[in-house]
Formats: sequence, C-alpha cells, structure tokens
Amino acid sequence: MPPRPKYTALDESLYDYLVAHRTPDDAVVDELREETARLGGSAVMQIAADQATLLRILVSAIGARRAVEVGTFTGLSALAIARGLLPDGRLLCFDVSEEWTAIGRRYWEKAGVADRIELHIGPAAPALAALPEDPPLDFAFIDADKAGYPVYWEEIVRRLRPGGLVAVDNVLWEGEVVQADKNGPDVEAIRAFNEKVLADDRVESVMLAVADGLTIARRLG
Ligand SMILES: C[S@@+](CC[C@H](N)C(=O)[O-])C[C@H]1O[C@@H](n2cnc3c(N)ncnc32)[C@H](O)[C@@H]1O
Repeated sequence: MPPRPKYTALDESLYDYLVAHRTPDDAVVDELREETARLGGSAVMQIAADQATLLRILVSAIGARRAVEVGTFTGLSALAIARGLLPDGRLLCFDVSEEWTAIGRRYWEKAGVADRIELHIGPAAPALAALPEDPPLDFAFIDADKAGYPVYWEEIVRRLRPGGLVAVDNVLWEGEVVQADKNGPDVEAIRAFNEKVLADDRVESVMLAVADGLTIARRLG
C-alpha cells in the first residue's frame, strides 16, 4: 500500500467546506467581494476568503502596529490587515491603480478602519526604498507584480523587526513552479524569488498551500 500523503488535495466542495468553517465574513467583506466580482476578469486578483482571515489572524497574533502592503487592488487584504492591527496601528498600502484602490477606500470607510490605512499611489519600489528604517515594521504582505518581488522583499526584510512577519502571495503560481515546460516571465520570477527566500538566513519561512501558495517568513533576531 502506498504511504498516505502528508497533504489533502482540494477540490471545489472541500474548498467550500473549509471556507465555510472559518469565522464568517461580515457584510462589508461580502459587499466588497460582490463589487469586485462585477469588475469581471481582473477580480481574479482579489485574495481568497480564507487568505483574508489568515492575514487578519497573523497580524493580530503578533500584536502588529506597523504594517505594509504591496499590491492593494480593491482593498480586501488591506481591510483584513487593518482589522488585525492594534487600535493605534497603521497600514501603508502601495498600488499603481487609483481606480481599483478607490473601491477599497470606500469599504475601509464602511468598516471603520480608514483612519488606520495610508495609501500611496505609484510604483512600490521607490516608495518602499524611501521608508525610514526606524521604527521597524511588524508585518508586510507582498501581492503585486511578480518581477518586483525581490526588490519588495529586500526593502521589507531589512525594515522588519525580529519576530516580524512577511506574507507573500502566489508562490505556487497555479502549480507551474514545478512544471518544467512552463517558462513564462511570471513563473520564472516566482521560481527565482522562492529560491531567494530559501537562501535568506535572516528569516525562517514556510510555504503554505493556501490559495495560490502563501509564503510566511519570520524575521530572526
Ligand atoms: C493581485 S493584485 C492585489 C490584490 C489585493 N492584495 C487584494 O486583496 O485584493 C496586484 C495589485 O498590484 C498592483 N501593482 C502592480 N504593479 C505594481 C507596482 N509596481 N507597484 C505597486 N503596485 C503594483 C496592481 O495595480 C494590483 O492592484
């Protein structure tokens, strides 16, 4: 008999089951999901429901006060992170799209967390490089253009406090990371990025099979 695998493959019904068995979303999140879905094809960029819950729990578990997000889109991940912050916490968001993030702003207002979120419109790399190193960051989420990941990683990890966390989305790239015949620029960028994280001795990290793959890295002391 083959050994039992150490993972459980998901299909739609099992995924629906796990999404249904987490703390339910509130009306603000439901409405944000519905409005984002009406955008059509680009809605696929929104993080998954379980991922949003996980981000909020991680942020809250480490008592984060200072957080950064690269790639905001219509604001669901930012909403989740902002909700997990300590009451006086601040989240700095970076995105190039005024149009998509304007949707997010409305929902942050509705959720009562708009005062915790500062949004910068423009390419994230120079804006991150201009951030002070002190006070350090407690939490960061990277979910933007894949070619930019190494730069976002460097700018964030050097500013992260010991014990601080970075979460990075799309690290499995729909499974293409292990498919030798897939060599598009995004999957190549993700493969190179994953090796970079593995070789980085400033952090300990784990790749979770959540959504399209989520790396969680913790800055060592
Ligand atoms: C996958 S979406 C982010 C999804 C979002 N985290 C959510 O919860 O819905 C990627 C976002 O990265 C933004 N983006 C792309 N290139 C960027 C860059 N160079 N700097 C900042 N943001 C960028 C896009 O405008 C897009 O909104």
